Amino acid sequence: MQYQSHQSVTGTILVADDQAANRELLDELLTTQGFRVVTVPDGAAAVEELTRTQVDLVLLDVMMPHLNGFEACQRIKSNPETYLIPIVLVSALSDKKDRIEGIEAGADDFLTLPVDRAELLARVRSLLKLKYRTDELERAESVLLTLAQSIEGKDPYTHGHCERLSDYSARLGEHLGLAEDQIVALRRAGIVHDVGKVAVPDAILLKPGKLTELEWELMREHPVVGERICAPLKSFRLVLPVIRHHHEKLDGSGYPDGLRGDAIPITARILQIVDVYDALTTDRPYKKAFTITDALQTMKEEVAKGWWDAHVFGEFERLVRSGTADLLSRSMAAGQ
Ligand SMILES: [Fe+2]
Repeated sequence: MQYQSHQSVTGTILVADDQAANRELLDELLTTQGFRVVTVPDGAAAVEELTRTQVDLVLLDVMMPHLNGFEACQRIKSNPETYLIPIVLVSALSDKKDRIEGIEAGADDFLTLPVDRAELLARVRSLLKLKYRTDELERAESVLLTLAQSIEGKDPYTHGHCERLSDYSARLGEHLGLAEDQIVALRRAGIVHDVGKVAVPDAILLKPGKLTELEWELMREHPVVGERICAPLKSFRLVLPVIRHHHEKLDGSGYPDGLRGDAIPITARILQIVDVYDALTTDRPYKKAFTITDALQTMKEEVAKGWWDAHVFGEFERLVRSGTADLLSRSMAAGQ
């Protein structure tokens, strides 16, 4: 058998075709190659099946009752739960209009009937390899997020800090009109910005008193360590500058690079405003929570000192004072 050398790629394939003969043919071909195959007779049944079964790839016939291949494809690709599943449209028609419609519906590949076995298997394997790489990336991301949350979890005082930071930074970014990819980066950065603290001993991390100069030196490493941890993830490209620069100050007195003014990425300037506010308005080992008014006043003084971005702070203050943001009710719940 000429395909046996590739048998390491396996997975579950959903075949949707209204012709029983076609279903049987594809089922047999794929099963003998080591794939698990689930077959359904139309597009609606394919969409339905995906809510029950973990599927790695879908082969959709174009001409089907209920939902045709294009419609089913579009439904699958517009659902955040299933949009990463590769879809191959199988059609007797090979004209350009169909292909364009298929691309618009989000299909990953096309095959023309009668299906050439070698071509089908080659395309299926190539799409599955791509899918598994994406799955791996997703797993790597979730490991990182879990790691970041477990570091935060060590400190009872910062409970929920990362989620709040993630949510509020994204909201402030949206309010300031940032591009969608920057808002996504802020959402992630809110969770992982302090992941570099994994390299800081607990005795320093949880120390109630003042840190010694040596302890501070270790603490100041955390943005660089965090950047290094997240660097291999391509999807974190826009998150890295936030992690590295979330402790910079506009007057150049921050760390790790002593950047000044606009040289500090806008996303980092946003995150740090929210970070400082959250730190001020929650209890910490070394201080009681500030009231909202006191926290905003303290930050205003720090803006005047040249630490934080005046425009970003001004917009943040407006969001807090507008009272529509949860920021206010969360702070109230914190006992103020
Ligand atoms: Fe930090």
